[in-house]
Amino acid sequence: MRMYDLIEKKKSGKELSTEEIRFMIEGFTDGSIPDYQMSAMTMAICFQGMNERETVDLTLAMRDSGDVLDLSKISGIKVDKHSTGGVGDKTSLALTPIVAALGVPVAKMSGRGLGHTGGTIDKLECFPGFTTGISEETFLKNVNEIGIAIAGQTANLAPADKKLYALRDVTATVDQMSLIASSIMSKKLASGSDAIVLDVKTGNGAFMKKYEDSVALAKAMVSIGTMAGKKTAAVITDMDQPLGLAVGNSLEVIEAIETLRGRGPEDFKQVVFALGGLMLQFAGRAANQEEAMQLMQSVIDDGSALEKFAEFIRAQGGDASYVYDTSLFPKAAYCMEIKAKDSGFVHRILAEEVGIACMTLGGGRETKESEIDLSVGILLHKKNGDSVKDGETLAVIYGNDKEKMDLAAGKVFHAYEISQEKAEKLPVVREYIFS
Ligand code: URA
Repeated sequence: MRMYDLIEKKKSGKELSTEEIRFMIEGFTDGSIPDYQMSAMTMAICFQGMNERETVDLTLAMRDSGDVLDLSKISGIKVDKHSTGGVGDKTSLALTPIVAALGVPVAKMSGRGLGHTGGTIDKLECFPGFTTGISEETFLKNVNEIGIAIAGQTANLAPADKKLYALRDVTATVDQMSLIASSIMSKKLASGSDAIVLDVKTGNGAFMKKYEDSVALAKAMVSIGTMAGKKTAAVITDMDQPLGLAVGNSLEVIEAIETLRGRGPEDFKQVVFALGGLMLQFAGRAANQEEAMQLMQSVIDDGSALEKFAEFIRAQGGDASYVYDTSLFPKAAYCMEIKAKDSGFVHRILAEEVGIACMTLGGGRETKESEIDLSVGILLHKKNGDSVKDGETLAVIYGNDKEKMDLAAGKVFHAYEISQEKAEKLPVVREYIFS
């Protein structure tokens, strides 16, 4: 088999066989297929597409390019959750202790933030001493004993995807549906869970900005997961404004803790409950979404979800006293109010701009190597649908550098789309996608 012939075949719109896709991914992973041939192939895929069977084969070949985790030592049905990434997306922090408090084991791989979107690991590192660098033995023991463990992605999970994603990034071939779906799902399938729940964001701050593209991506991923033998479902959630009110690492952790105490913002709670409901059903813990909602509310009301969160933080070396006293989290030196210059209604808050403002403050990474400031961020005082009076506070910026705060303030001010017409409050949970 020659890679040259496979490129020619895809270029002319023909279907690649299972063997051909395996040959291509194995050769690319071991270096026998060079980057220039693989980039010609990804460009051909961008123009000609891949059908469902080819997309599943690509995903499975990438999954098998490295370790596939064996979670069989963990009792119970393991349900993984993945988000395509958003601004203010602290969902995993509240969701995992809620489902774990209900007896559903959470064995999760998480990542760090890059660009305008944040990452779960950075947020967890707001707890002094917390580490995701735990051994496999500790990881399995913690899931079995307390119900949650979160580790950083190991280098050998779907290495073909890691290499391919880096290549796509510099050859303008990221935005192809089959390539995106197979990239995400290869890592999820290598993580070894029994079922997968996907949070596919849609709107300005999302990877997929158009609604129909988000639905198409969700359908493609659900179909891959199902064909790979895992129960899989997706929820399309809104990212035409940041999720919740807090953007920035420690501010988001505090908001997640408030949510576990039953005092979180409604939109955030709705996303947590939508995803948690699916996880509980897949794990056989609830018969339907309504029962799942009642169960989730009960562990918030009786404090066991908050207790579970503290237990998890402690088990991974973190100082759990912060869970009970959030005033301990590091605070930024300065704050600045962003005020409305007109009266009207908030139609949208460009989430990407708010995410970039947080990055400008030092709260996000411009490159993988950037150091981040966990104390900075933005608290939104007005959200979509709210009325605003001239001079009223739209948001407050927390920072440690006045120059950076001035830059961030301009971005946050311009992120608010305010007009005289009454604005409808948009639902945050837009649609469920099942196989
Ligand atoms: N995230 C991924 O992991 N892969 C993609 O291709 C796009 C987003």
